[in-house]
Amino acid sequence: MLDLIIKNGTLVTPDAIFDADIEVKDEKIVSITVPGTVKEAARIIDAKGKYVMPGLIDPHMHINAPLGGYVDILNHYQASKIAAYGGVTTFIDFSNTTKGDNVLDAIKSRREEMEHSCIDFGIHAKFVEANDELLHSIKDIIDYGCPSFKMFMTYRKSGVMIDDTDLLKVMEEANEWGGLCGFHAESNPIAEYNEERFERQGKLDWKYFPESKPVVCEAEAVSKVIHFAEYLNASIFLFHQTSAAAVDLIRKAKERGVKVIGETCTHYLTLTKEKNDGPDGFLYLMSPPLREKKDQEALWNGLKDGTLSLVSSDNCTFTRELKEAGLKRDANGNVIPDFRKPINGVSGLEERFGLMMGEGVNKGRISLNKFVELCSTNPAKVFGMYPQKGCLNVGSDADIILVDPEKTVQLSKDNLHYGLDYSIFDGFESKGWPVTTIRRGEVIVEDGKFYGKEGTGRFLKRVLRR
Ligand code: URP
Ligand code: ZN
Ligand code: ZN
Repeated sequence: MLDLIIKNGTLVTPDAIFDADIEVKDEKIVSITVPGTVKEAARIIDAKGKYVMPGLIDPHMHINAPLGGYVDILNHYQASKIAAYGGVTTFIDFSNTTKGDNVLDAIKSRREEMEHSCIDFGIHAKFVEANDELLHSIKDIIDYGCPSFKMFMTYRKSGVMIDDTDLLKVMEEANEWGGLCGFHAESNPIAEYNEERFERQGKLDWKYFPESKPVVCEAEAVSKVIHFAEYLNASIFLFHQTSAAAVDLIRKAKERGVKVIGETCTHYLTLTKEKNDGPDGFLYLMSPPLREKKDQEALWNGLKDGTLSLVSSDNCTFTRELKEAGLKRDANGNVIPDFRKPINGVSGLEERFGLMMGEGVNKGRISLNKFVELCSTNPAKVFGMYPQKGCLNVGSDADIILVDPEKTVQLSKDNLHYGLDYSIFDGFESKGWPVTTIRRGEVIVEDGKFYGKEGTGRFLKRVLRR
């Protein structure tokens, strides 16, 4: 007998929208049939009037990670539950590598933490330096199932930045064995220069943060790493792109055959730098910073024309208190703004569905098919999980969400599940909402209730195809 049938639903893939029944056995989709084929199953869900889509994949988030001296508030089980509410059935985090660490060991200890998740997971290998031993370990890391790497081109003072020579060595070695290097592309010289300059000028209010890391700060680093990739004929991935200038650089690089894949994040698509004005401006500090309306439109256009390939959350969940920690206070107890101090990063794991539906599909910027491509299929393809993940194919894992197209939800701290006393996405509205989340054939969220179990998520041994 089948484990599950989802009948009468409207399937959405990157290429088509059509009515069909989905049959699931032993965690996999075993058949996709014309609606109304009568069969028996342990459970039958009538999805009439609902969209049936592949579960979302969030390939960029930070959980229980030491960032700038602070650790965000969630563990991987809590994060997986929050993710499941937002229709996410797979996520990828990073190894917490610091200088002197063996990266493969860092991956293995990260895996132990992530085993608590209730959704499936992968791990990107973070490199902060390169020596012979580390370079030798790259093949082992890829064979272990972690063929994607992250390197920071900034944050020299906190020891996270990899220098350019080491970066080139990692890029060459990873490319040799079929790995994909990803970059946090911000110019360290420009960021450090401006930190000092803005301090001298007394411009440390939150509102100056975007100006301290201006578009050229991103563009310089993006341009440099594109040149490195072109020189080594290597594939690269660019995390969290924010600006029209970056989109333009990626578009031109692609035109001349450079193998560059671009990502942007929900906050850059929905918020602009004015959010850093005012007393709550620190809640909107992330790196790279928020930009202008014209950049936002360039990002949407970049997604539409394929210059950018996917949208992630870059989730970091911090309480207001954590964001304020380290700030000095005046005699009245009010914080003295200093954009250099608050930990960078914002939430988005749960909001990504609503933001992409509300601001993307509902506003006609992208189609429903494109939504699936950007938030599920392309993350699976880029990071070596396709077709196990990211699609509704026979033989694929039954990671499926049911979306009620008539359900309208306004995002707010009260209906999100982080337990924060604020939401930077307060008031954004989505017509269309994931009401059921199914991970490998098991219903883990249904009608607002969570049924997932800690420790049921699996490590994904990812393999990149070129
Ligand atoms: O501000 C951000 N993005 N924090 C998370 C770390 C990173 O650079 O992705
Ligand atoms: Zn980054
Ligand atoms: Zn990040």
